[in-house]
Amino acid sequence: MTAHDFIPNTYKSSIEKGSVTWESPSNIALVKYWGKKKDQIPENPSLSFTLDNCKTITTLSFAKRTNDDTDFSFDIYLDGELKDDFKSKIQTFFDRVEVYLPFLRIYHFVIETQNTFPHSSGIASSASGMSALALCLMSVEKQLLKSDGVQGADKNALDEAYFNRKASFLARLGSGSACRSIEGDVIVWGETDCIEGSTDLFGVKYPYKVHENFKEYQDTILLVDKGEKQVSSTVGHNLMHNHPYAQNRFQQAHQNMDSLKEILESGDLNAFNALVESEALTLHAMMMTSTPYFILMKPNTLEIINKIWDFRQETGLHISFTLDAGANVHVLYPKNESEEVLQFIKNELVAYCQNGHFICDQIGFGAKLIDNE
Ligand code: DP6
Repeated sequence: MTAHDFIPNTYKSSIEKGSVTWESPSNIALVKYWGKKKDQIPENPSLSFTLDNCKTITTLSFAKRTNDDTDFSFDIYLDGELKDDFKSKIQTFFDRVEVYLPFLRIYHFVIETQNTFPHSSGIASSASGMSALALCLMSVEKQLLKSDGVQGADKNALDEAYFNRKASFLARLGSGSACRSIEGDVIVWGETDCIEGSTDLFGVKYPYKVHENFKEYQDTILLVDKGEKQVSSTVGHNLMHNHPYAQNRFQQAHQNMDSLKEILESGDLNAFNALVESEALTLHAMMMTSTPYFILMKPNTLEIINKIWDFRQETGLHISFTLDAGANVHVLYPKNESEEVLQFIKNELVAYCQNGHFICDQIGFGAKLIDNE
């Protein structure tokens, strides 16, 4: 498949107006995406667990435009409040996806969005936000195709598999990690030899056996720092260009995908913990060794990591951590150890969270259509 396959045959855009609502989850990468080429193509493969509770709910309303203005026309609201500062991000997104969604200039759009997690929690909303918007746009396309009475090759465009692939493809053009937020529960993005069907173009469901140990795997997110990100992820990714360790890192990600495949099959939780922690620290090591360099961990991030290591040593429980491009810590553990681990989190780790805030989440099953009028 190539990007070209997502360009539809022209449709008539005969629908006057409508509205659609999707809810789409965030995801947590175990093998990290860090570094990209032109057109949001990742430098290395990544693998993530789709989350269940951390979601964005987006309603997209559309109405045919009456004026002849040729610019995109849209308004965006977060929690009912007009957010003009989000406009440039959506404008860039529309510019990138227009060739794949030729109806974008024909309608005026109202995008109403809300997150189930507190904003300014330091949790990236770009994955859930961009995937929710991409799904809404796909539903509009589907309605347009249907109303045209699609025939022949275009019939493929109504398949669920095609719908999900194109939604992921579009989400990727909004934010790389968003392409892993369409489906559950384990997703791979980026071509790698050990995973059949993996591609740089969109996320695919992990196609091999996953051991029972990972069923309902838990992710408790400790909110260490709710401030604005010091560095945007796009700037961070770009620092991998000419980075002295970049090529080794990209190669290591392929090897880690290979190792993780064995781990997911065998259910070896010790090996799992070693791999995900190494990935998290490597991500931060890349940031610390780029030019310019930066440190996104906070003192409390390190306190938490050390506490997790001590607790694991003392109890033999299978708790580990991973990090995104920020100070918050994702604490990972199997469902059957939840009781002891949650007690530990409440007794020992909450003290390091800003205002004692944390969010309990677990592996989830992907985005859901809520409403389609
Ligand atoms: C550290 O997907 O936010 O979370 O493509 O520039 O929008 P853009 O980047 P983004 O990068 C996220 C990187 C990460 C690791 C990961 O999720 O794989």
